[in-house]
Amino acid sequence: VLIENCAELVTLRGAVPRRGRELAELEIIRDGALIVRGGMIAAVGTRKELRRHGFARGARRMDLGGRVVLPGFVDSHTHLVFAACRADEYEKKIAGASYEEIARAGGGIVSSVAKLRAASAKELRARALGFLRRFAEHGTTTLEAKSGYGLDTKSELMTLAVNRELAQSQPLEIVSTFLGAHVVPPEFRGEENGADEYVSLICKEMLPKIAAKKLADFCDVFCDRGAFTVAQARKVLETAQKLGMPSRLHAEQLAHTGATKLAVELGAASADHLEQIDDADIQALAGSNTVATLLPGCSLHLGGEHATHCAPARKLIEAGTIVALATDFNPGTSPTLSMSMILSLACSHLRMTPAEAIAAATINAAYSLQRADHIGSLEVGKSADLAAFDVADYREIPYYFGVNLCSMTMKRGKVIYSRY
Ligand code: NIG
Ligand code: FE
Repeated sequence: VLIENCAELVTLRGAVPRRGRELAELEIIRDGALIVRGGMIAAVGTRKELRRHGFARGARRMDLGGRVVLPGFVDSHTHLVFAACRADEYEKKIAGASYEEIARAGGGIVSSVAKLRAASAKELRARALGFLRRFAEHGTTTLEAKSGYGLDTKSELMTLAVNRELAQSQPLEIVSTFLGAHVVPPEFRGEENGADEYVSLICKEMLPKIAAKKLADFCDVFCDRGAFTVAQARKVLETAQKLGMPSRLHAEQLAHTGATKLAVELGAASADHLEQIDDADIQALAGSNTVATLLPGCSLHLGGEHATHCAPARKLIEAGTIVALATDFNPGTSPTLSMSMILSLACSHLRMTPAEAIAAATINAAYSLQRADHIGSLEVGKSADLAAFDVADYREIPYYFGVNLCSMTMKRGKVIYSRY
């Protein structure tokens, strides 16, 4: 297929990962075109160049009508599989209750756990499948999906098995992460050392089973006030690493705990949230290959002081940290699957430029998932994953906030969504 008439073909060719000033280098080709063969990108250039290309002969033409084309978004942090929304809590938050107050009163993650345990794999799959279609409609072609609403061996394994079935039965690429250490489940909360006992269960039973069935690409821990301590997180993540699962970490969202330093020390692929980090954490991240994944959807949805206490994106970028953006799609803190909305928030609230936000949501996110070799940019030899937007200037994508301008999404060379 010869794809042509892209007003701007935003390739993101170049440095991987992007740090500092490089983050804004999008490598745009005006009146761009690309040739796709066997699901892969075979050539990238201007329309003029590619019409003369050897592969153009006999190729089917696809005219993008002067749209902007980006690499498909890589959403590197989602909690895809859950059983029910928590719109009731949304009203409580609006009335002034905090996320942590709601959690202490039995709502929050624990209420999602009760609902997931009562659901069947079939129900969970059907619900997630509906969301995946919408991710595709918004230009996302790869997403990471965490477990963490099961919190017992059976339900955690079931969630990861749902991730695997989804990865095999629909077009989006799914990277699976085990988040058994999301919170301490209710049945372990009675005794004093219940949290440590649950951590033992994760290390002795869940992780070995998950490793044996190769059900997770990564292991994550919610290391924060009200969840797990740095020592507990270390135990889980070191056990997982020995079993071949690299680390990700929910770090410094609600309180400063030292989770970011742990992420750097363990060589984690990503440290996510980071609203409460300090300058020493920023320096530690800057000197590492751990990606700082920012999730501004949480600030918007949680409101209150979360709305004004955002992650210091500018400082992180200027220090040379690898910055990525993700939706954190989940029923409690960020119920959005729109990466363009995340770009808008990153620009308006985190003061990232549209160019920086796009690189953070594509190539750097791909790097954080250890998949930058085949996704995250439009380059020869990579997967033909792309999204077309009904604009002529890429800056309009975050500019028109809350509007889905994506009109075509392609994964591995196949159109998986189109509305023109
Ligand atoms: O990334 N902070 C922990 N995990 C999720 C929230 C999950 C939930 O509330 O259901 C997050 O914000
Ligand atoms: Fe999360």
